[in-house]
Amino acid sequence: RVLILDFGSQVTQLIARRVRESGVYCEIWPYSVDPQRIADFAPRAIILSGGPASVTEGSSPRAPEIVFKLDVPVLGICYGQQTMMAQLGGEVQSSDHREFGRAFVDVIDECALTQGVWAKGAREQVWMSHGDRVTRLAPGFRVVGVSEGAPFAVTADDHRRFYGVQFHPEVVHTPHGAQLLRNFTHGIAGCSGDWTMASFRQAAVARIRREVGTGRVICGLSGGVDSSVAAVLIHEAIGDQLSCIFVDHGLMRQGEAEEVVATFRDRFNIRLVHRDASDTFLDALAGVTDPEQKRKTIGRLFVEVFEEEQAKLGGAEFLAQGTLYPDVIESVSVTGGPSVTIKSHHNVGGLPEGMRMRLLEPLRELFKDEVRALGRELGLPEAIVGRHPFPGPGLAIRIPGEVTREKVALLRKVDAIFLEEIRSAGLYDAIWQGFAVLLPVRTVGVMGDGRTYDHACALRAVTSTDGMTADVYPFDMGFLMRVANRIVNEVRGINRVTYDITSKPPGTIEWE
Ligand code: XMP
Repeated sequence: RVLILDFGSQVTQLIARRVRESGVYCEIWPYSVDPQRIADFAPRAIILSGGPASVTEGSSPRAPEIVFKLDVPVLGICYGQQTMMAQLGGEVQSSDHREFGRAFVDVIDECALTQGVWAKGAREQVWMSHGDRVTRLAPGFRVVGVSEGAPFAVTADDHRRFYGVQFHPEVVHTPHGAQLLRNFTHGIAGCSGDWTMASFRQAAVARIRREVGTGRVICGLSGGVDSSVAAVLIHEAIGDQLSCIFVDHGLMRQGEAEEVVATFRDRFNIRLVHRDASDTFLDALAGVTDPEQKRKTIGRLFVEVFEEEQAKLGGAEFLAQGTLYPDVIESVSVTGGPSVTIKSHHNVGGLPEGMRMRLLEPLRELFKDEVRALGRELGLPEAIVGRHPFPGPGLAIRIPGEVTREKVALLRKVDAIFLEEIRSAGLYDAIWQGFAVLLPVRTVGVMGDGRTYDHACALRAVTSTDGMTADVYPFDMGFLMRVANRIVNEVRGINRVTYDITSKPPGTIEWE
């Protein structure tokens, strides 16, 4: 396994993605981690990430000295290379010639990192993002590649197996970057690359059995990918020691609640409590119009209902959650800027406060698409595994203004038509999230010979990689017109359809 020490780069997670894609398990830790933990982890190799700080400032982060003393290969990327050079006796300077974006490296020599990927004499495209640069090599290093802005774009000390690159091999804009990383983990560090979802599944099952013993586990199911995969994995490990609770808040999309029950109870034979609490939630939402108030109301009720059902089951020692790796990685704040809460993302399935249970989080090491791969490996249907993200508070935050039963029913129909059309056009997987919003305005229309005065709705579809930023999906006009036509004809109560063309930022993905 490989250790990635994070210096705060925006793209550190991509290093882990590339390493894992090559079949090598890795973890990301902050650079400031206790050196003893690094020794205990016993990595086969260490990668130092990029970061926003400047090595030329005395107080900027440094790699723990132990990194260079474990006799394992080290790869420094961008800031990682700079701090490695500075720490091992080289020199780094700020430069006027900054490089951002696409750049080219002239390969002037050979080394184990570039072997079989970049030939000596070639000019290779890379992605750079740096102001500082290495200006004097540390003893033992030689230069392998140069770029206009970085005289030491690729450096190597084959004897100690220390390598440095000024560019970012982890991003897709460096076309052969993944192969360079593979050279490092497989060729130089000798990792075997046998980490697959099948091996993860086996190891995870064994670990769950060890951890749980004869204890009982309760898992909140939401119909989303993460809790579904967690439940099926845990069920494979401990069978009926697992009970799932599905708190149905009545704010799911059309047919989804039924699908959850059919999949888990009937198909996987998982013990499942389906609590239809839609009246409780919808009654409590009466008169609530503020988005945050909606989230708080739903979050509070969810915990209450969940605890009730859990008590009926007679309690359990463990609470299972589908926590993913991005939530676990300790974030590095090198610049220390304050962060603001845009929305208080309430995750249905969150740990009720004060609940005295141990957490079981079998997906803690996985990224989202790895969870999907594991779900497929476990035989979960594509409809669940490939599902678009859906917010915990459900349709409530897609109905600006007060949420009523009638509005929920209306929105469900609109949403179902939009998704059906997206699917049959083969676009579902190209879209990160596609959904409809029921607008709190009525507009005048004409249908047949009569005047209508009905609701307007908005359609929204975005592309994204992590939900942090998003782009509008560019449907062709014919598609949108077809969807709009169907909606107005088939959903009584809607007479106008709009398409939301706001990116994030400045908009958010949801309307509330
Ligand atoms: P925004 O609207 O903030 O959404 O751009 C980013 C992602 O988060 C989802 N989202 C939520 N998920 N509880 C959730 O579990 C929430 O309260 C919530 N609000 C937004 C949204 O669907 C998108 O995937």
